[in-house]
Amino acid sequence: MNKKIAVIKGDGIGPEIVDEAEKVLNKVGEKFGHTFEYTDVLMGGCAIDATGVPLPQETIDICLASDSVLLGAVGGPKWDTLPGNLRPEAGLLGIRGAMKLFANIRPAKLIPALAGACPLKEEITKNGLDLVIVRELIGGAYFGARDTHVDENGVKHASDSMAYADYEIERICRVAFDMARKRGKKVHSVDKANVLDSSRLWREVAHKVAEEYPDVEFQDILVDNTAMQLVHNPAQFDVMVTENLFGDILSDEASMITGSLGMIPSASLGEGTLGLYEPIHGSAPDIAGQNKANPLATILSVAMMLRYSFDMGEEADAIEKAVDEVLAEGYRTGDIMSEGMKCVSCSEMGDLVAQKI
Ligand code: IPM
Ligand code: MN
Repeated sequence: MNKKIAVIKGDGIGPEIVDEAEKVLNKVGEKFGHTFEYTDVLMGGCAIDATGVPLPQETIDICLASDSVLLGAVGGPKWDTLPGNLRPEAGLLGIRGAMKLFANIRPAKLIPALAGACPLKEEITKNGLDLVIVRELIGGAYFGARDTHVDENGVKHASDSMAYADYEIERICRVAFDMARKRGKKVHSVDKANVLDSSRLWREVAHKVAEEYPDVEFQDILVDNTAMQLVHNPAQFDVMVTENLFGDILSDEASMITGSLGMIPSASLGEGTLGLYEPIHGSAPDIAGQNKANPLATILSVAMMLRYSFDMGEEADAIEKAVDEVLAEGYRTGDIMSEGMKCVSCSEMGDLVAQKI
């Protein structure tokens, strides 16, 4: 098969980690007889520098005309003082909206070879940790009406509204239930229905969708309790579905308890097969350009791309297996380094994984 991939290398370590992911993807292409065609496009800080805006129209057009989009990372201190709508992050929100990527899939799994890096006590993680957060990505407070103004008394006000329509909740719940069917058959719907109207609607719709999936165990859980349960007993979770802001926060928490933020991929999907794939970590400007970054989350993001956008399950398995093997052999980048392991650079890690394909 021939697939067109729009590539947003972005800022900081973005370019170096994406190069390694392309290296691995090219090896998959050779081995399985596919060609992957890359088109680099600008987004984030590099786009601001080159064009004055974080998301040029050309980038949107090319992404929409591709089979899939690969993203490194955007942002950095250089652009931190710009107004909200001109920051690199606005580019990310813009492309999610333009591509209608309402479903963000964030797996958090304790990798046996890295169990030592998990900050939780062994008695808590002994049952493992393998969950997926399905985060609504183009609604809620991120995309609701917002306002900043000074009133007649000189008092400054700012507001963001967390708004949801029933169909937005329904479609993301379906993604979660479909995913649970292929995994542990359990869904937790996370909300704050004891306080928020948007959460009460969320809960009502989630229950309706749950009725269509009698084979999937279903439970509501409040977001504050979820934050607590994640560190108390993370093994109880299989698929968690939640609104945009809650999902943003909980996915950082979940990734931290795997002990390996630098290892976690993500997929953002809409109605069709076009998706955007990115590591969940940031652009790490402090180590940019030093060939020190961990490319594994980006490499694993490419595995998700193969699985979800290109229906290439076998190829995706090959990448995930290669990563497991390289880790089992004791190779580590600096961020996941521990005693007795072999420390390698970003490009060496890419080489090692590519060799295993
Ligand atoms: C994420 C990030 C983004 C978000 C930021 C960079 C806009 O934190 O992908 O989780 O909040 O969605
Ligand atoms: Mn986040």
